[in-house]
Amino acid sequence: MILHITGKKGSGRQIIESVKPRSSIELPPSQKSDLIGGHFRSFRRDPTGFLTRQASLGDVSYFRLGPQAAYLVADPDMVRDLFLVSNSKFKKGRALQRAKVLLGEGLLTSEGTFHLRQRRMIQPAFHRDRIAEYSSVMVDEAVTTISAWRDGEVRDIDKEMMNLTLRIVGRTLFSADVADAADEVGHAMTTVTQLFNFLLLPFSELLEKLPIPHSRRFHRARDTFNSVIFRMIDERRRSGEDKGDLLSMLLLARDEDDSGVMTDQQIRDEALTLFLAGHETTANALTWTWMLLSQNPEKAAKLHDELDTVLAGRNPNFEDVPRLAYTEHVIAESMRLYPPAWTVGRLAIEDHEFGGYRIPRGSLILASQWVMHRDTRFWSNADDFLPERWNSVGVKEASQKFIYFPFGGGVRRCIGEGFAWTEAILLLAAIAQHWRLELAPEQKIGLNPMITLRPKHGMRMRIAAH
Ligand code: HEM
Repeated sequence: MILHITGKKGSGRQIIESVKPRSSIELPPSQKSDLIGGHFRSFRRDPTGFLTRQASLGDVSYFRLGPQAAYLVADPDMVRDLFLVSNSKFKKGRALQRAKVLLGEGLLTSEGTFHLRQRRMIQPAFHRDRIAEYSSVMVDEAVTTISAWRDGEVRDIDKEMMNLTLRIVGRTLFSADVADAADEVGHAMTTVTQLFNFLLLPFSELLEKLPIPHSRRFHRARDTFNSVIFRMIDERRRSGEDKGDLLSMLLLARDEDDSGVMTDQQIRDEALTLFLAGHETTANALTWTWMLLSQNPEKAAKLHDELDTVLAGRNPNFEDVPRLAYTEHVIAESMRLYPPAWTVGRLAIEDHEFGGYRIPRGSLILASQWVMHRDTRFWSNADDFLPERWNSVGVKEASQKFIYFPFGGGVRRCIGEGFAWTEAILLLAAIAQHWRLELAPEQKIGLNPMITLRPKHGMRMRIAAH
C-alpha cells in the first residue's frame, strides 16, 4: 500500500489518499490526481503553485503528466546530483526535445559528445573581452529606448524590455551593419517564440504536420529565419571578414581536437539558439526587477543613490559593472524571487535513485528554481525583496550550494550567464539613473510560467523623471 500525503514539510503530514502500488517499487508522496491525465490539469492550471505544493510533500515527490511519470527534487544536493554528479544519466526534457524542430542541434538541444564539442567551440564568443565589446551595444540600445520615453507616460515595460533585449542580441549576433536583417529576423523570432508554446501541447507532433494556421505561421517564420541566416552565412564566408560579432565567432570557431569547423546548418542552429535563449530571459529578469523596485520604494531609492554616486549622470560602461554592487544585488534578488527559468527538466536515460526512491528510466525529473529560491529552510524572509541579503550570502556561494540556480548548473549551465549579468546590470543602471518606474494603478500581477516566467498581464508602468 502506498500512502499519498500532503501538508507542510515537517508539520505533521496528513494522509489524504491511499492507492494500490502498480509494482513493488515504492513511489514518493504525491498530490491527489485525476483518473485521466494524472496531474496534468492541476499542473497546467497553476504550474508554480503545483510545484510548491509538491515540494511541501517531501524532498522527492511524484506526479503524473498524462502517461509521463514525473518527479520533483526539492533538495539542493539532489539538484547538484541531477545537474553535475550524475548528469550523464539524464538528457533534456520534452520541451527541449520538441524545440529541435526549430533549433535543430544547437547548444540548448544537442546532447553528449556533440554538445560538448559545440560548447568548446562557442565558449570563446562569451569570453570577458568579447562581452566588454558587446557592452557598448547594450548601453547604446538602452539609450535609444529611453530617448523615446516621456515624463508621465504609461508604457508596457514587458514589451519595452523584450524589444530592447531582442535588438541587443540581434546586433551582437549579426552586427550593426545588418540592422535591417536583424529586424527581419527579430520579427520572425517573435512569431516563433509566441508559437513555440503550441509545440509543447500534447499531440503537437501530429498538429505540427497539419495545415492549421498555427503550424503554417510557425513554418513561415522558420523559413524567414532560415533564408536570412543562410544568406548572411554565405556573404560572410565569401568576404572572409571578421566583424567581431557572434556570427563571425561561430564561423571562425575551430575544434581544438580535429580543427573541424561548423557546417552552415550547425551555424544556423547555434545562431538561432543564441537568438532565442539570449533575449526573453534577460527581458523577464528586468521586467520583474522594475515591478519589485516599484513595490519597494526604499530599495529603489538606494539603487538611485548608488547610480548617482557611481555614474553622476554619465552613461554606464563595462568598467562600471564591478562598482555597481547594489545594482547587481537588486538583480540577484529579483532572479531569486522571479527566476526567468523557473524550472529545468531532464529525462532519465538510466534508472537512478533520489532520496532512497528508485527512479525508473524514462521518468521526467524536475528541479525548480521557483521552489528552491523561496524555500524557507535556506532563505529567511523568503518572500521579501531584500537585495541586502546578498552582502552576506554571495551569488557564487549560493549557486555552488544549489540553493540558487537561475542559470542552471553543470555542463549544461547557461553559456550566456556573463553576458546576461553584464546586460542586466548595464540596462538597469542606464535606465534607472534617468527614470523611476511606477506600476500603473490598474496593473494586475500574475505569472505566466511557460518556457520562461513571463508576467501574465504585461507590466504597464508610469515613467517619471528621476
Ligand atoms: C537572465 C538571463 C538568463 C537566464 C536566467 C538563463 C537561464 C538559463 C538556464 C537555466 C539554462 C540551462 C537550461 C538547462 O539546463 O536545461 C540556460 C542555458 C543556455 N543559455 Fe541561458 N539564460 C539567460 C541568458 C542567456 C543569454 C543572454 C544567452 C546568450 C546570449 C543564453 C544562452 C544559453 C544557451 C546557449 C544555453 C544552453 C547551454 C548548454 O546547454 O550548453 N542565455 N540558460
